[in-house]
Amino acid sequence: MKCYNSIIWILVIVLLVSIGILVSCGKDNQADVEEQSKDVESVIGEDGKNEDYVKKSLGARSILLPTPVWVIGSYDKEGKPNIMTPAWVGICCSRPPCVTVSLRKATYTFGNIMEREAFSVNIASESFAKEAAYFGSVSGRNVDKFSITELTPIKSDLVDAPYIKEFPLVIECKLLQTIELGLHTMFIGEIMDVKADKFILGEDGLPDMLKLKPFVFAPGSWEFYKTGGYLGEIDSLAEEIKGG
Ligand SMILES: Cc1cc2nc3c(=O)[nH]c(=O)nc-3n(C[C@H](O)[C@H](O)[C@H](O)COP(=O)(O)O)c2cc1C
Repeated sequence: MKCYNSIIWILVIVLLVSIGILVSCGKDNQADVEEQSKDVESVIGEDGKNEDYVKKSLGARSILLPTPVWVIGSYDKEGKPNIMTPAWVGICCSRPPCVTVSLRKATYTFGNIMEREAFSVNIASESFAKEAAYFGSVSGRNVDKFSITELTPIKSDLVDAPYIKEFPLVIECKLLQTIELGLHTMFIGEIMDVKADKFILGEDGLPDMLKLKPFVFAPGSWEFYKTGGYLGEIDSLAEEIKGG
């Protein structure tokens, strides 16, 4: 009988402790909900609109985040190799494979490409961030950027332009056409070949982002950023919405 009473007392104590825990959790949850609603209220303006979702005009400016960081190789009239960094760049056609690079007439590279009708695109890995910044801050008209950075120009055997030996991914381009836009002239180059160091290739034989480690440019703030990690394979991501 004594043993029976003890069991009942233990059960009562366990029950009371459980009720206490549940009540205090409830209070915590309530506090969390109140805190969250305060957060939500704080981003809702006086007119009831959520200020976080009201877009602010930044004006008609060349701000698009991110842009790639490329390094363009070219020869001058005397055959001196030069390199410069542009960010107003991109692929513009798949067949024939073409790229665009927009340059100001003031750059040395502008005259070089006009003269030689060719250029190389060298993709900078994170380890070359300092060099890419430097190539974009001084002109080849005044300095030899290859010798200062101790990089090696290699003469392309396909186009009249040098590429950078130490950069793991390079693209050789023949000038197709130029388009005058205003401050910048757009150069359209046809890709004659893409060359990659083996250590940046994935199992599929193509350049692997995580091995290449390219970085990007934030116009406006004038900063470089690393590229993030893997997000997903395109078909699988689309399938999550298509629900196939
Ligand atoms: C990140 C970055 C992006 C740049 N993008 C461009 C560009 O798209 N077009 C351009 O004409 N100049 C651009 N510049 C400036 C040129 O790289 C700079 O004027 C360079 O000194 C030109 O070199 P060059 O005279 O040897 O050709 C950029 C500079 C930096 C740092």
